[in-house]
Amino acid sequence: MSTPFKVALAGLGTVGGGTVRLLQQQAELIEKRVGRRVELVAVSALEKPPGLDLSGIRWFKDAVAMAAESDADLVIELIGGAHGVALKVCEAAINAGKHLVTANKAMLAYHGADLAALAEAKGVALGFEASVAGGIPVIKALREGLAANRISEIHGILNGTCNYILSRMHKDEMEFGAALAEAQGLGYAEADPSTDIDGIDAAHKISILASVGFGCPVRFAPANVEGIRHVSALDMKYAELLGYRIKLLGIARRSGDVLEQRVHPALVPKGAPIANVEGVFNAVTIVGDFVDKVMLVGRGAGSAPTASAVVADVIDIASGRSASPFGVKVAVLDLVEPAPLSVRHGAYYLRLMVRDQVGVLASVAKALSDSGVSIAKVFQDERSPGEKVPVVLITHESDEAAMQKALKIVGAHPALLEPPRMIRIEQF
Ligand SMILES: NC(=O)c1ccc[n+]([C@@H]2O[C@H](COP(=O)([O-])OP(=O)(O)OC[C@H]3O[C@@H](n4cnc5c(N)ncnc54)[C@H](OP(=O)(O)O)[C@@H]3O)[C@@H](O)[C@H]2O)c1
Repeated sequence: MSTPFKVALAGLGTVGGGTVRLLQQQAELIEKRVGRRVELVAVSALEKPPGLDLSGIRWFKDAVAMAAESDADLVIELIGGAHGVALKVCEAAINAGKHLVTANKAMLAYHGADLAALAEAKGVALGFEASVAGGIPVIKALREGLAANRISEIHGILNGTCNYILSRMHKDEMEFGAALAEAQGLGYAEADPSTDIDGIDAAHKISILASVGFGCPVRFAPANVEGIRHVSALDMKYAELLGYRIKLLGIARRSGDVLEQRVHPALVPKGAPIANVEGVFNAVTIVGDFVDKVMLVGRGAGSAPTASAVVADVIDIASGRSASPFGVKVAVLDLVEPAPLSVRHGAYYLRLMVRDQVGVLASVAKALSDSGVSIAKVFQDERSPGEKVPVVLITHESDEAAMQKALKIVGAHPALLEPPRMIRIEQF
């Protein structure tokens, strides 16, 4: 009989617990697929969680010691956090010559290239399928299934919490705060939801996808990140009237040495497939030069879907299949820096809350045109002389820098009663 492939697991929370259950429930199937038994030999967490059968599995209080000293062939890191103990666990595992699987997008966004270099130097595999879009096998699709293509663009809905909130705001005309509270009640949003709703989580993920797709080191670009706090039910209503839906998107494009990498809410045409991805689902579209567009949709988080991605990596590695983490050897990764948001070129949605009086629209139009932004459509469905009314504008394609200049001028207009609300329009 062949010896088992031994696995150690650090972190027994949502994903770690799901991974233990999956390894136990699917043991036979996994053994058939790998050709040998995959055995969980060691685990570590701060507390032993109730409801998990850990009999016969060695318990380590110290996850770093487990990574370094256990007799595992592979360590799975499911603790989380960008720079702390999770990173130490990963470095200890690789330095001890063990393969590594992690779902930790925050850590990869900062340390992905260094970990890949270390793994390469030590001759071990680094798997991180679960770090982006939960159960959707997007890393494998991008790195292996689409390996024959030059990838020009990757965009997608990468945060299920935000997509749930925006879907509730759209379908039931809820305000942002009420939809967030509901998501928290259902366990879709954390008590401190800022990493999700401020776009940071999606930005970690798009930086990983950009790296795999474009063959460059992971570069988290926090300056190009905008969340969904400012999206209102009113914007949802006008977007719908004008033929759009609002989604939080991660977008990465490479042309030559310019890497556009950003996260922000965007109006997308109602008919676009991505506009109809609702609730906690994620979707990723990849554009390749030979394949054209490929779109993957599925559950982007949660215990079971994420465990599915974690164990897929374990199965690959245990079977002796492992690609370079970012598709190419670290030495040939292209050094491209994310360009500032000001390089964006596209159309914009602008909602202005103005005092309803003669001449306001003309002077706003002049301010926009003086900045190099021209108006494609104006929409005003409420009239109330002397009172506050919304005016919605859609611009022709303009440079982001021109739009930002226009926003400063329009924002200082005396008839404006609230700061202008701008949302970028993406035509896919
Ligand atoms: N949740 C998802 O749907 C999802 C999806 C994709 C990726 N991820 C990523 O997966 C990772 C885990 O997420 P999660 O949601 O499972 O987190 P979680 O539920 O908070 O679980 C974290 C686990 O790590 C343990 N832990 C904390 N500090 C530790 C230490 N010093 N040594 C050993 N164990 C320690 C915790 O132990 P105690 O419980 O005893 O404190 C807990 O078991 C994160 O990187 C996350 O970004 C999560």
